[in-house]
Amino acid sequence: MLRRTFVAGIAFAALTAGGVAYAQDAVKIGMIVPMTGPSSSTGRQQEAAVKLWLAQNGGMMAGKKVELILKDDTGNADMTKRIAQEMVVNDKVHVLLGFGLTPLALAVAPIATQAKVPQVVSAAATAIITEQSPYIVRTSFTLPQVTVPMAEWAAKNGIKKVVTLVSDYGPGIDAEKAFVERFGKDGGTVTESLRVPLRNPDFAPFLQRVKDAAPDAVFVFVPSGFGATFMKQFADRELAKAGIKLIATGDVTDDDLLNDMGDAAVGVVNSHHYSAAHGSPENKAFVEAFKKANNGMRPNFMGVGAFDGMTLIAKAFEKTKGNTDGTALVEAMKGMSWTSVRGPVTIDPQTRDIVQDVYIRKVEKVGNELFNVEFAKIDQVKDPVKAAKQ
Ligand code: DHB
Repeated sequence: MLRRTFVAGIAFAALTAGGVAYAQDAVKIGMIVPMTGPSSSTGRQQEAAVKLWLAQNGGMMAGKKVELILKDDTGNADMTKRIAQEMVVNDKVHVLLGFGLTPLALAVAPIATQAKVPQVVSAAATAIITEQSPYIVRTSFTLPQVTVPMAEWAAKNGIKKVVTLVSDYGPGIDAEKAFVERFGKDGGTVTESLRVPLRNPDFAPFLQRVKDAAPDAVFVFVPSGFGATFMKQFADRELAKAGIKLIATGDVTDDDLLNDMGDAAVGVVNSHHYSAAHGSPENKAFVEAFKKANNGMRPNFMGVGAFDGMTLIAKAFEKTKGNTDGTALVEAMKGMSWTSVRGPVTIDPQTRDIVQDVYIRKVEKVGNELFNVEFAKIDQVKDPVKAAKQ
């Protein structure tokens, strides 16, 4: 009797161990993005990109099956935090991915640190984010990284007087500061800096102030998903007719919404790290596959941030030979380089931010569609705020 129980016990233990070993064999990724609310386009883009990456790689990373857990935080930071906690404690994810807005990324930083789980930020772009946890690695961009080239271009191209207009939170303030500083150093003058509330923005009174100030140009940042509303109000106020040029970061002329913006967007010069019109063979194949898998939806920089997030996680698992230890994974990510659809990229080993080419682009009609057509490139730009400290 005793012996039989013992044997059965062993058999049961062996089975359980087999089950546990199998679970550990999967790479578990917890993805948190806004799938609903004003930033839902970010979630939609990132989900589509991650699913395309999995389809193209047989659902595997470093020889292991990928288990993707995707949750909608609706753009609410308390919810992001709660979901991240559940994913780390209950689901035991190996990596967290996503974070569609700066406050959502910041809310999770203490959890990443405490749990020693890599937090791959594939969307949010305020410079300080990577400084909030040694477990944060970023595959999107920083606002200063893309804004400084825009300010340099403006100063070199006959623009002398600018008003800045940004969404009033982290990335907008980053963009404003970077523009004011660089444009000032290059001999330009920012006469006024306007900040518009992030939620339910009414741009009209701010645009009226821009019109009254009569600068050569208005420099604008609004996050992905808000560009079409801005562009409509910009067109309604007839600023272009008043001789005021619109210059921007590529968040405003977001590839996802650009075709809905119509002629008001044509001619807008802007700077960013990714355009759906980027001419590399890798990008042409990516855009085609992305559209095919998503009813013709065009990828934007948010989609690319998540696609590269998956590439980075896969490369880290390959380097650790499947070791799921979070500290080992972050170490493996540092200094990693690959050819992204945006161009060559490297994870800066000091800052864990992405080093990438930044392009100056102009919105043009190509066939029946609007595109951000790249016409100048600044090679391998680091986040300038952190580069200055290095
Ligand atoms: C952020 C969000 C965006 O949609 C964007 O285009 C840039 C920055 C952010 O909240 O960090």
